[in-house]
Amino acid sequence: MPTARPDRPEAAAPGQVEAAPHHAPQGLSDRFALAVTKVLRFGADLLFAKRYGHRAIVLETVAAVPGMVGATITHLTCLRRMVDDDGWIRTLMDEAENERMHLMTFIELARPTAFERLVVLLAQGSFYIGYFLLYLVSRRTAHRLVGYFEEEAVLSYSLYLAEIESGRVPNCPAPAIARRYWDLADDATLADVVRAVRSDEAGHRDVNHGLANKLARDPLTGTRPGRPDPGA
Ligand SMILES: [Fe+2]
Ligand SMILES: [Fe+2]
Repeated sequence: MPTARPDRPEAAAPGQVEAAPHHAPQGLSDRFALAVTKVLRFGADLLFAKRYGHRAIVLETVAAVPGMVGATITHLTCLRRMVDDDGWIRTLMDEAENERMHLMTFIELARPTAFERLVVLLAQGSFYIGYFLLYLVSRRTAHRLVGYFEEEAVLSYSLYLAEIESGRVPNCPAPAIARRYWDLADDATLADVVRAVRSDEAGHRDVNHGLANKLARDPLTGTRPGRPDPGA
């Protein structure tokens, strides 16, 4: 079960960031997923620092990959084994589409540099292949990895929100595409958008940790009939 990060405060003082749920790693699979996440977080912090708009664009191009990979492999597995998917495919495709809408929103607010476009190209090629192979080897580790990625995404959007609320980042009007997608008010702002995106990321975190937990208990979950819905 997710627990509060021991290294982060439970309640945020004004201008600070609240602690978010954290899944304590259990076993080698979880530790590997957490270690990969920390290494990639370090790289992202080096590359973007507090340029949260650019950070969001580049990382959302990566975030939209795992759901589609998981859905594809689960789809093919269910075809081969001739079994029901227990709702996994739709859940994972919804996640991929949701992440792509995050990208479509933030691209209205910032333009990636030529170097960032190169990073997107290289990251997509390497991450798609790497995640695909990981999903074939261990679905549990793959979903745990996304669970940890999403923990970091929640933290990053909380830091972005803190920058907006402090006035260091202009709280501009929400793009029309975001107002439509999240059904926001006409006078919604960037802060409202970031809160909505952060809520989506928290949902992805819980779904993926939930799927990893189910796979830890039953590695065949999702590839044979009569199993309960994922994310429980
Ligand atoms: Fe996202
Ligand atoms: Fe996400």
